[in-house]
Amino acid sequence: MTTIEEKARKTLAELGVQDEAEVRAVFADAERALEAERDALVSKGAPTEAEREKAAKLLRDRWLARKHGILSALDEHWLKTAPRELRPVVGREFNRLRQRSASLELAELISAIPLRKPKHAAPKAALDLTLPGYRRELGSIHPVTRVQREIEEIFLALGFRIETGPEIELVYYNFDALNIPETHPSRDDWDTLYIDSETVLRTHTSPVQIRAMRRYGAPLYITTPGKCYRHDNPDATHSPMFNQVEGLAVDSDITFADLKGTLDFFAKKFFGSRTRTRFQPSFFPFTEPSGEMAASCPFCESRGCRVCKESGWIELMGCGMVHPDVLRHGGIDPDRYSGWAFGLGIERFAMIKYDIGEIQHFFQSDLRFLRQF
Ligand code: FA5
Repeated sequence: MTTIEEKARKTLAELGVQDEAEVRAVFADAERALEAERDALVSKGAPTEAEREKAAKLLRDRWLARKHGILSALDEHWLKTAPRELRPVVGREFNRLRQRSASLELAELISAIPLRKPKHAAPKAALDLTLPGYRRELGSIHPVTRVQREIEEIFLALGFRIETGPEIELVYYNFDALNIPETHPSRDDWDTLYIDSETVLRTHTSPVQIRAMRRYGAPLYITTPGKCYRHDNPDATHSPMFNQVEGLAVDSDITFADLKGTLDFFAKKFFGSRTRTRFQPSFFPFTEPSGEMAASCPFCESRGCRVCKESGWIELMGCGMVHPDVLRHGGIDPDRYSGWAFGLGIERFAMIKYDIGEIQHFFQSDLRFLRQF
């Protein structure tokens, strides 16, 4: 950017000023520069009367000195050399600027500059080595992580291993390989967050089933915890991001009885040994037959209460026998092997376990909530 001194050394023609509007613009720039310099000095103040006078003189001379002041330069280069047709406007603007520069007259300028002592830094308090140290607060395990670990522990003890997969997943693994047809409503934009036509934020942890089957083959016993995403509006029980745990067992003679036995054992371990379970038919494209497992309410032992909405039962998870087509997509021969699978929501489990009525508490980082765990 050109400074006002640099401009004052050139003629208007050299500055490319050709009409009245441009003349007014260059003078307006000069006026702004003058005001800014004066304001800066006034707001800075000066520590002593002598320094105040010195600073005021410097600024006055910079603009008003007869020999090298900016105004003299403007007179010389802008006014005297102005082309005939622009001379009247240049003259008027020059006079205006000169009137404005009256604010730089020495007496007036000095009285405008406040006397101000420079601020001194506060003296540092002496270091007292006898004071106790600062205690850093210890964090605690987030309830969702805590419940996830509890679930993992139970399955690890049964010989399952933990397997994870990508949260940005191919449509193929999230839907096609799981027997979910193109026409299935869950593939709709309203339910699924698409990255592009072939990639989604996974809507469940079931795609890890396929990845693990392809990687390890059968027999296979895995649990797959992780984040999932759905185009769900946040409410008391829904969040667009939530965690699931999937379980998958594939072996040569797996039956529905294994599924029931394992999940019943799991529910008793997690909610307490008096817990009873029940299975109801359901539908998932990737399991056949499919079921929903519910557990007797751990708060009222099935007598009916607020938590179980007086039903005595709490729905826990979807499950079923792995569909033969899904085994095939996983590279496993359904004539030799069979399998069961389940999928549950970790936040929902944590809500049941700790009687939390609002899923959003898990995501708000409110210490009053988190300190309870
Ligand atoms: C499934 O996602 C199946 N993949 C589960 C499954 C796996 C069935 C293997 C059979 C065999 P579903 O859409 O019901 O199922 O979701 C499972 C659980 O995720 C729900 O029971 C719920 O606890 C949790 N969940 C789903 N959507 C949300 C959400 N928006 N917020 C919080 N939790 C959710």
